Amino acid sequence: MINAQEKILECKDLRISFKTNNGTVKAVRGVSFNLYKGRTLAIVGESGSGKSVTSKAIMGLLAGNKIVEDGHILFDGHDLVKLTDRQFTNIRGSRISMIFQDPMSSLNPIMRVGKQMTEALILKNKSVRKNAAYVFKTISRYLHNALLKIEGIDTKRIDQIFKIIDKDMNLLSEEDRQYLLSFLPKVVSKTENDYLRSIRRIADELTLAQDKYLQGFETFNRDVFKDYIATLSNIKTDTDDPLSEEKDDLAFTFQAALRASLKKLAIAESNIIKGEKLQAKIDEKKFKGVDTSKLELKIRSFGSEIVLLPSDIFNQIRSLFQEFIGNLNSILDTRGTLDATKNSNDVLDFLNQKQNDSWFRLPSSDAKKKAIEILEEVGIPNADRRFRQYPFELSGGMRQRIVIAIALLANPDILICDEPTTALDVTIQAQILDLINKIKKERNLSIIFITHNLGVVANMADDIAVMYAGKIVEFGGVNEVFYNSKHPYTWALLSSMPDLSKRERLEAIPGTPPNMIIPPKGDAFAPRNKYALKLDYEQEPPFFQVSENHYAATWLLHPDAPKAVPPKVVLQRMEDLREYKKNVKKNGGSNND
Ligand SMILES: Nc1ncnc2c1ncn2[C@@H]1O[C@H](COP(=O)(O)OP(=O)(O)O)[C@@H](O)[C@H]1O
Ligand SMILES: [Mg+2]
Repeated sequence: MINAQEKILECKDLRISFKTNNGTVKAVRGVSFNLYKGRTLAIVGESGSGKSVTSKAIMGLLAGNKIVEDGHILFDGHDLVKLTDRQFTNIRGSRISMIFQDPMSSLNPIMRVGKQMTEALILKNKSVRKNAAYVFKTISRYLHNALLKIEGIDTKRIDQIFKIIDKDMNLLSEEDRQYLLSFLPKVVSKTENDYLRSIRRIADELTLAQDKYLQGFETFNRDVFKDYIATLSNIKTDTDDPLSEEKDDLAFTFQAALRASLKKLAIAESNIIKGEKLQAKIDEKKFKGVDTSKLELKIRSFGSEIVLLPSDIFNQIRSLFQEFIGNLNSILDTRGTLDATKNSNDVLDFLNQKQNDSWFRLPSSDAKKKAIEILEEVGIPNADRRFRQYPFELSGGMRQRIVIAIALLANPDILICDEPTTALDVTIQAQILDLINKIKKERNLSIIFITHNLGVVANMADDIAVMYAGKIVEFGGVNEVFYNSKHPYTWALLSSMPDLSKRERLEAIPGTPPNMIIPPKGDAFAPRNKYALKLDYEQEPPFFQVSENHYAATWLLHPDAPKAVPPKVVLQRMEDLREYKKNVKKNGGSNND
């Protein structure tokens, strides 16, 4: 049951565009999905639908002309959309790894396979060390400065102690450690008090300001927010403060959410004005005395993105404030009681740990042992011999195995596979898919599997999201989406699938995907969809729930829509797939439900 699963990554309303000479390409237009621990989410759609852009956003690998318009990617308490490059290097390749269609793009053609693997391990180790050294230096510099300001302290002695610490914490004599500990609680409690005070200040300011600003929202006075956002920006603290990142995170998260809501409000507002002009109907002050049911209709028809009334958005903003203040209060609660002595010990332990991390080196014999182990895990026979070969000496399938091995070196939680088998022939493709299933099971990995070929995922996916023109149009459990698909685009993908028993080639879906500089309003698939209703050209369909774990965004699911039955060929495909899957299971194929 989905609800009982542990959510490991959540993508919320992601919107990404690219600036080009011809205009802004709206590549990803509001994508949301959850990835669960130990499950495979397949993202399926034709070329250009925004699959790679979505996955590159998760990896922090988007091209320089990107504009992240909106959205969040939540992973392990971070919003990946907001990470700095330095923060990303800690996650990319260690918590989240990615493999691509062309294994050669990830391999160095003139370096032996083994060297590439140990190099990756050593590099990884280096970056952990670099990061540890950075944290160590920052904290110890901060402590050093803070201690010098304390009354009654022997500044010369402190300077000496920190010279020793800079070399090696472990060289610190017990006497010096005790001396440090006798003053450290003062610094720790002052730091925490400063922190609490600034949080308290933000909470107070917000509570005070809330009513005023909410009034501003109600009257659409957006100027009111300019100085407010400026205030929030000023919460930033000096860079020596080890807690500055945490403080910034809090302020930024709120700022970003507020900005996003304001933008929605502005769009809604301008759509109403357009509606007024065209229909000359709403002349009263915005809402008062207006038949809101009509108003909603207008908003729906003038903005394909907007399905909410401004008053709904206003309520969202209100709850945003409340949530934020609640958040601050909970920090105040947990930080309210201090134990400076205990915390001082924690600080020393932490420093010690960081310093050890930053000095630990991986011996190359250990790196080789680990590399060979993983080569064996990904099914490479004679790993010892392969270790000494160059990529050109290996077949395409072997190369992709090596790339998977490299991706696994850091023991990631999430593996993103972007069309990993597209360049391989059918038999090899099946082997690589089996391998991915095997490592998923053995390592309890969460996988995002991207493909343009729905057929590939029948035995891979637990969950499927079908993407078209930068949006998810249908998602749910693999069985729901395969055997009870509801969106005509999913039907088109099913009918373009090669017949599994005959090994045919994938057939293109008639028509072409839309121009993403001016994406069509309504259902973007409408012009290629023979089931399209008039409404499909006008309004974007919302997600309709089909079953507990199955949703599709098509007006065909509206209770008033005419009944639509999938084409015969699609019904036949669903039947074939069911048979195929049964056989695969019988023959010991890997699938996990
Ligand atoms: N750096 C870029 N500059 C301009 N457009 C881009 C860039 N990267 C991707 N796009 C466009 O974004 C859309 C989605 O691309 P992509 O995610 O690669 O599709 P796919 O689903 O095939 O992986 C396409 O229209 C593509 O041309
Ligand atoms: Mg792609």
